[in-house]
Amino acid sequence: MAQAKGILPRRDDREVLYKNPQTCGYFVSVKLDPGMDRARAEGWLEAVSHLVDELVARLAPEEGEEKGQKVAAVAVGLAPSFFATGGAPRFSPPVEAPAAFAAGVPLPNATAPLASVPLVDADVLFYVASVFEARVNEFVSRLAEMRPDVQAIRLERGYQRLDETEPFGYKDGVRNIRSQDRPEFVFVHRGGRELDEPVWADGGSYMAYMKILQRPDQFAARPDDATRDQVIGRTKDGTRLDLVGQRVDPKREPADPPPNLPPTAHVRKAGPRGMHDDTQIFRRGLPFIETTADGQVRVGLQFCSFQAWLDQFDVAFNDWMASRQFPPQPNGAEAGTDALLDPARQLTVIEQGGFSSSRPTTPTVWPPPSSPAARSARGQPAGSSSTSGSSTRTTRAAASSAAASASRSSTRTGRSSPTHSSRPTPRAVGSVRSSSTSASRTRCKSCRRRSPTSS
Ligand code: HEM
Repeated sequence: MAQAKGILPRRDDREVLYKNPQTCGYFVSVKLDPGMDRARAEGWLEAVSHLVDELVARLAPEEGEEKGQKVAAVAVGLAPSFFATGGAPRFSPPVEAPAAFAAGVPLPNATAPLASVPLVDADVLFYVASVFEARVNEFVSRLAEMRPDVQAIRLERGYQRLDETEPFGYKDGVRNIRSQDRPEFVFVHRGGRELDEPVWADGGSYMAYMKILQRPDQFAARPDDATRDQVIGRTKDGTRLDLVGQRVDPKREPADPPPNLPPTAHVRKAGPRGMHDDTQIFRRGLPFIETTADGQVRVGLQFCSFQAWLDQFDVAFNDWMASRQFPPQPNGAEAGTDALLDPARQLTVIEQGGFSSSRPTTPTVWPPPSSPAARSARGQPAGSSSTSGSSTRTTRAAASSAAASASRSSTRTGRSSPTHSSRPTPRAVGSVRSSSTSASRTRCKSCRRRSPTSS
């Protein structure tokens, strides 16, 4: 299975690019001409594909080297608006949307707190990591010249760093999905778990992006280092608070939920461990610094995660970090929301967000939505004519739509594991999770998947 490019650090590129402190990140969002028809869109993607090839081309090999140095990687994400506008397919013939963008399937920002966060107004998002700024300059400039196809273009930046700290001074990127587990959690496996994804999405990935402003003044105003450490759940060097003095490599931290951490500590909320390890996101965010027109300095995180299914992000953000009930406390007491993101503490502000779907192939390979091969891969008779997805998907979306009106949470997966497995379990084609009430939404999905009563 081909895997979407520009997402996972490959062995030989890891140190020269992704972990390289000289690497910069560029989030380039592109709004296309709403009047673009499918032929124009195909032509545009083909032209963009050439620009991407030029951007990521290796340098000429030095003497004795087999291949030249890699200087850039790009993940290309197609936003929901690329597939549909105003509830109707954008193109004719339509391009089958990835399952998480299908009609009636709510995105993770369907409810508070993300509901009030503006979405990036873009149809395509490029996440570029590069040590070669001039090349990125060329790429962005040539994108901007593609008018009238490109209607608007915006650039957000992030930086890699030598000491790996985020703007509050804490080591970040200490813990992420283990290398051997990444392909499984990051890429769509149509033949395994993500059965209802279109054929063209196999090996792709969902990108979740958020620009989060950090307030170092508010963080510094907290009484002392110990109080600040409790917000994160780690000391500045990355040691988890319950493991201080034990010299435990973060990659070998115990698999059980950490005891004695404040329930609102960021790592307690975002990485609960144990039975929740079947939900993980691959984080590739970068800090940013910028100034305003009136001379203020702003710092924060360009948060970015990749996952095989948007449910992974949804559970981590909505069911764990934003939920006051998670993790469950003795006597039904509230845990409270993630201290780092709790609006009441004013340490951070989520300023914008966006979801997109990366494709496993270069953009020139256009998804053939109604080709016989695509239909037979979906289990449809070659002669049948579906332009917007399999019949099971249609049923699923219709049911989703009804369920969404009761609760945003109920629709995204049909994963149904009766036990606490450490791996995601298959989602059945066309299955729709039973409608959940807002009361049940207060409990984590990965708990609900297992038992209606346990947590
Ligand atoms: C300004 C915003 C944020 C900052 C400054 C921040 C910072 C940090 C830091 C310092 C750590 C501990 C080091 C590490 O394990 O890498 C961490 C861990 C983590 N963060 Fe964030 N983070 C932010 C937002 C988010 C968001 C929005 C999410 C998810 C939607 C998230 C998910 C995680 C996860 C999954 C971990 C690993 C927890 C573990 O398994 O121990 N973070 N973050």
